[in-house]
Parts: sequence; C-alpha cells; structure tokens
Amino acid sequence: MDQIKIFLDEKDMPRKWYNLAADLPTPMLPPITPDGQILQPHMLEAVFPKNLIAQEMSTKRWIDIPEEVIEVLYRWRPSPLRRAVNLERYLKTSAKIYYKDESVSPAGSHKTNSSVAQAWYNKQEGIKRLTTETGAGQWGTALAFACHAFGLECKVYMVCVSFEQKPMRKIMMRLWGADCVASPSNETQAGRAVLERMPNTPGSLGIAISEAVEAAVSDKTGKTRYALGSVLNHVLLHQTIIGLEAKKQLKKAGIKTPDVVIGCAGGGSNFAGIAFPFVQDKINGAKIDIIPVESKACPKMTKGKFTYDHGDIAGMTPLLPMHTLGSQFVPPAIHAGGLRYHGMAPLVSQAIVEGLLSPQAVDQLHSYEAALIWARTEGFVIAPETSNALACVIKEARKATKEGKQKVILFNLSGHGLLDLAGYDKYLDGKLESSQVTPDEIKASLARIQGSHKASARKTGRW
Ligand SMILES: Cc1ncc(COP(=O)(O)O)c(C=O)c1O
Repeated sequence: MDQIKIFLDEKDMPRKWYNLAADLPTPMLPPITPDGQILQPHMLEAVFPKNLIAQEMSTKRWIDIPEEVIEVLYRWRPSPLRRAVNLERYLKTSAKIYYKDESVSPAGSHKTNSSVAQAWYNKQEGIKRLTTETGAGQWGTALAFACHAFGLECKVYMVCVSFEQKPMRKIMMRLWGADCVASPSNETQAGRAVLERMPNTPGSLGIAISEAVEAAVSDKTGKTRYALGSVLNHVLLHQTIIGLEAKKQLKKAGIKTPDVVIGCAGGGSNFAGIAFPFVQDKINGAKIDIIPVESKACPKMTKGKFTYDHGDIAGMTPLLPMHTLGSQFVPPAIHAGGLRYHGMAPLVSQAIVEGLLSPQAVDQLHSYEAALIWARTEGFVIAPETSNALACVIKEARKATKEGKQKVILFNLSGHGLLDLAGYDKYLDGKLESSQVTPDEIKASLARIQGSHKASARKTGRW
C-alpha cells in the first residue's frame, strides 16, 4: 500500500526560518513614504515593535526561531504531509499529489505560525495589547489564540461581510479573550469616514487595516502595537516553516524535488510559506513550476499593476512595491474572504517580476467545485481560500495526465472550512454565483492609485 501520511519527529522540526530576501537575484525595492523617501526603521516604531521591524528589514538567510515560540508550535507541529490518493484515483491522474495540512492548528489554519511569533516578539518589547484586522476570521482567531498564550490583550476589526457570513469566528476569538468588531466600525476615524462615504460597503481588508493601525497608534499608553497577518516580509518568514518541513517529509517519501508547488494567495503568506524554500532551489537551478493562486474577484497578480501602493484604504501604511489593484479597491463579497486583499506581498511580487512564479486566478464557482470533489474523495472540508489552490492542483494534475507525465504536485492546505459552511450550503443549493471584476473596474481602480511613485520592474532575465 502507498504511504499516505508522512510525519516528522518533533526533534526534526526546523529551528530556523528561511528568508528569501537573502537569495532574490534582484534585490527588493525598499518601502517608501508618500513623499518618496526610503522608509527608515524608526518610522515604524509606533506601529510595530523594534525586534519585528529588524526582522522586516533583515536580509539574513536563516533566522533562529525562539525556543518559547517553538514550544507553542510543538502543540500541533510538525504538521502532517499527506498524499491525496483518493483524489488521484478520482482524477485517474498520472500525477502524485501531496499536501501539507495546516488545518491542524488550534485556530484551524497556517495563520498561527506567524501569530505565535508576533505575539512573542511584542511581549519581549513590553507591549500589552495588539490590534489587527481579519478577513475570513482565520487571522483574528490565530492572533487571539497567540495573545492568550503570551498574556496580551487583543482587538480585532473583522471585515463586515465575513463578520456576517462567519459569526462562529467571533465566538472563537472571544473564547481566547479577544474583542472583535465588524469593520468599518464607528470606533475609529478611518471607519467612520468609510461609513459616511459607503454606508452599505461589504468592508475590505484595506479598510480594516486602517482601523487597526489607527487604534494602535492612537493609544496614549504606548503599549499597543499592530499585528498584520500577511503581506510583510516578517510574516512570510514565519510561514516558511511549512515548506521547510515539507522538504524533509518529501525526502522521507523518496522525492528529491516536487515538479509543481501550489498555494492560494491573499496577501501571500501561506503561499510563501510552502513555496519560498522551493524558490531557493529554483534560484539554485531546480526545475519547479511554482504557482500562487488568487481569486478572479481580486486578481492583483494576473490583472493588477506592479507599482508602489498603500497597504490600506486610508493611506496609513508606507508605500510598498507590489502587485496591486489599488488600495481603494473593494472586491466583490466572495466567500474566500482571505483572498479579498488588493495587494500582494512585496517578496512574492518581486519573485513574480523575476519570473520565478507563475500566478493563476480561479473563479469561486470552480473553487467550490474543487472543494466538493475534495470533500467527496479525501473527506475533509477545506477553507474557501484553500479551494482556490485545489482548483489549480486539479487543473495541473489533469494537464500532467494529458501530457503522460508522472509529476509530483505539492500544495498547501491552508485551513479547514468547518466554520465556512454557509458558502458550501449556497453552492449545494445552486445559489453561488461566479464572481469576476471587469477590465473597466480594474482600470478605474488602478487610475486611483495615489502618488506617482513607479516601482521599476527589475529582473535578471534568467527565468
Ligand atoms: C485558510 C486561509 N488560507 C489562505 C488565506 C490567505 O492569506 P495568505 O495569502 O496570507 O495566506 C487566508 C486568509 O485569511 C486563510 O484564512
């Protein structure tokens, strides 16, 4: 019988995170201020603790994971690598499909890999309270769990469409002692301004980020900081434990290098987590197709522009060099709330510019079709975000079969969907609709990008 579960011993859990910034053949452009100055670390100190700012700017290849962080991660890590033999049989594919199961964490997704680290680093700097945004609620629950583990208070601004679609997420946050409100809220200036302009808005991650940053920097005690669940270099760094474990597990299964690596991408963190250790191999000569998968309702990588843009709607964050649809873009209310972010992580964006990654976009009807196939073959109920990656896995497996190739496909199962059943219900009732933005909507949103700071798309031309 084929081995379908590959575990690692606790002693084999990686002790260092991998930083792609050390190996990118063309260095990343720096973040800048609205007047075009290169952002200096001290300018971020009202928002993030100094130790995380240092990590954000670091180009060191390997960064030690603190022992106290490892102790918490041990509760569910190393996470299993499994082979999806039932899906392979259903597809009658020549491909072998492996997946890293990040749904086994207490909050149900990969997000805890960074929330635990961020809470710990904040605690070291004497911070007492963290504020954050959350889309589908996965990051909010992950941060609530981590804050509780290290004795910090936690305040979460949850995108209002997801707040209504997924009320159980709020209960989970409360279980771990966090306070969660729907965004836009009346609690912040940024929220009130949006409500005045767009009273019926479904909300967006860009809006919720403005609220959470404002709540952090306006706290007069100086003991509150903001935590971001994706996009930034340090968040992606913390997630690389996924790909580093997967490498060891594939080796145990006799596989030197996968042919295809796939992850869904909202701000880019779980994709980067599984992919970056393999991007390093690709830079060093390996032949791997590496695919970040976005939603056609928020297609920044496939239809957006690589330029400097704000990470939030109110322009409170620095300008980041990234693929973006414009920080004013409010995506349609798809069920994959975690993919409704207008921008892509600068590290992922630079790897796209370099030609190391091949982004794809999926319509929500296809992602739900894939999720249903998964539930009826492998049995697990996956998060709507994850199902975008799965739709791409199925496509790549079919392609391999057609070409008669025995490819190894690796993907990241970023989270379970046990609190996302409303979307499944709609799909089963035939009430879920296709959701795509039109070229005109994209054009109008790109035209609204503030400032005129162009990011030059520098690349070596090797890929
Ligand atoms: C289960 C799951 N997968 C993926 C994502 C997308 O985020 P990221 O691109 O940072 O991994 C989210 C975000 O909320 C999520 O909850």
